[in-house]
Amino acid sequence: MTSAVLHIHKLCKSFGGVHAIRDLSFEVGHGEIVGLIGPNGSGKSTTVNALAGVFSASSGEILLAGAHIQKLPEYERVVLGLTRTFQTANVFPDFTVRQQVELGCNSTLKSHPLSSVFGIGIHEGENESIAARVEDILEITDLLGVAEDLVSTTSAAQQRFLMIATALAAEPKIILLDEPAAGMVSHERKTLGNLIKRIRDLGTSVLVIEHHMALIMEVCDRIVVLNFGSKIAEGTPSEIRDNKAVIDAYLGEAV
Ligand SMILES: Nc1ncnc2c1ncn2[C@@H]1O[C@H](COP(=O)(O)OP(=O)(O)OP(=O)(O)O)[C@@H](O)[C@H]1O
Ligand SMILES: [Mg+2]
Repeated sequence: MTSAVLHIHKLCKSFGGVHAIRDLSFEVGHGEIVGLIGPNGSGKSTTVNALAGVFSASSGEILLAGAHIQKLPEYERVVLGLTRTFQTANVFPDFTVRQQVELGCNSTLKSHPLSSVFGIGIHEGENESIAARVEDILEITDLLGVAEDLVSTTSAAQQRFLMIATALAAEPKIILLDEPAAGMVSHERKTLGNLIKRIRDLGTSVLVIEHHMALIMEVCDRIVVLNFGSKIAEGTPSEIRDNKAVIDAYLGEAV
C-alpha cells in the first residue's frame, strides 16, 4: 500500500552477532494507531531507533509518505514528519514546560531557530502562530496547569506527557511512542489513552510500544507482534488476543 504514512520493508538490524530485528515488514496508515508489542528484548526499541535514525538499519527500506528515509540523519527525519519519544523520560529539567514545547516547534520554523534568542530574522506572524500552537499542544496534553513550572518540579507522568507534547510540536505525520505509560497509575493511563486517540483524530498517525495490554487493546486499530526480532503476528486487537502464537510467546494467561 503506497498511501501508508510509514512503510517498513524487510528491515534488519544486528548488533555484532545479535539479530535484534530480522526481515521486519509492516505499515502504518493515515489516521491509524498501530501497536508494537512483544516480550522484553524482542526488538521493539531497536525498531523505533532504526525508524528514527538513532542508528542505521543493517538492511531494508523505510518509507515516510512514500519517500525513502533510511539513509537520512535523525533531524532530517523529524523535519520530514517522523518524531518519537523515549522509553525513559528525556526532558530539559531547567526549562519551563512551555519553553520545552516551544523548543520542539523549532524544527518547523522558517526563521533560524536562534532567531528567537537574538530577535533577528523572524518571519512575520511566526511568533504568534507558534504561541498559539504551543497553547493548543499544552491543552491536549493536559499540561496547561503546569506550563510555567520548571520541568524538574513536574511529576514523572507529566514529564512523559511533556515528551509527547515536544514531539507533537514538530507537527509530525507520525509519532513513535516507546512505552509511554511506564510508571503511570491507572487514571494517568486513561488520560494517555485519550491523548493517543486525540492525536490520531487530529491527523497524526501513531506507532505505540507498550507492555500495558489493556491500553494497547483499547487504543490500537492494529497490532504487530515481535518475538526474537521477527514479526509473529499482525491483526486487530481481538485477532491478536486470540492468536495462539502470541499467547504462547507473550500474552500467556494475562489477556
Ligand atoms: N545498542 C545495542 N547494542 C547491542 N545490543 C543491543 C543494543 N540495543 C539493543 N540490543 C539488543 O537487541 C535486542 C533487542 O533489544 P530491544 O531494546 O530492541 O528490545 P525491546 O523489545 O525494546 O525490549 P524491552 O521490552 O525490554 O524494552 C536485545 O537482545 C538487546 O540486548
Ligand atoms: Mg524497549
